[in-house]
Amino acid sequence: MNELEISLGSKAEETPLIHVDHVSRHYDDGAVKALDDVSLTVRRGDYLAIMGPSGSGKSTLLNLLGALDRPDTGEIFFNGHGLSRCHDLDHFRAMTLGFVFQSFYLLPTLTALENVQIPMFEGPRGVRQRVEHARGLLELVGMSHRSQSLPMKLSVGERQRVAIARALANDPQLLLADEPTGNLDSKSGALVLDLFDCLHRERGVTIVLITHGAEVAARAGRTVWICDGHLSESPPARGQSCG
Ligand SMILES: Nc1ncnc2c1ncn2[C@@H]1O[C@H](COP(=O)(O)OP(=O)(O)O)[C@@H](O)[C@H]1O
Ligand SMILES: [Mg+2]
Repeated sequence: MNELEISLGSKAEETPLIHVDHVSRHYDDGAVKALDDVSLTVRRGDYLAIMGPSGSGKSTLLNLLGALDRPDTGEIFFNGHGLSRCHDLDHFRAMTLGFVFQSFYLLPTLTALENVQIPMFEGPRGVRQRVEHARGLLELVGMSHRSQSLPMKLSVGERQRVAIARALANDPQLLLADEPTGNLDSKSGALVLDLFDCLHRERGVTIVLITHGAEVAARAGRTVWICDGHLSESPPARGQSCG
């Protein structure tokens, strides 16, 4: 078992799920300060929205939270453990995190049922358990009836629901979503957000979601704003360009 997955018992009650500690991520030899000295704490059961204009650093932060990228300076702690000291980030990511992206990233040659099973190959489930669990997840997202369909036969809203089922494959402690309704019409977007509400409320899933939409952020319990690589817990002042 990965050290980051080990429950910390009573200490786990006090330790935040995520602590971002003075993290910076610069590109182009420091010319682009995508994130500049950002700190943030996310507790278990939080539903956090990240807002900010294009290019402000939102995806950079989400990629760091998801261990898809590493900070130049600072540290990200998950359950109190620094990610920079984790030796198997692939396994950690697969077993602990779920990702939902604007563009779904379903594998086009696999059915919905097969796509949902992909992350389970990293876990202990055998073939039959994988299929059963994937069926259950497709039911959860209201997609049982399309389990044998290829992604191209599904509407964009249906594709995103399959992608959410896939993100839940290994019962993640944290669901990271980068503009999950960005490619959806308002009705499909509302269905996806209802699903997030349900996962948060009824399953206690911790969610960090990037959005441009205030109505999307309103679903979350807490919102932070990123502007030019700086994070703020309060919205930008009126008339300020960022926001
Ligand atoms: N791989 C990269 N190489 C160079 N610059 C990058 C890279 N990724 C992001 N950036 C830059 O970092 C800044 C923040 O990008 P990003 O986090 O994608 O913003 P957002 O998600 O808020 O639109 C932007 O100026 C972007 O051009
Ligand atoms: Mg982005």
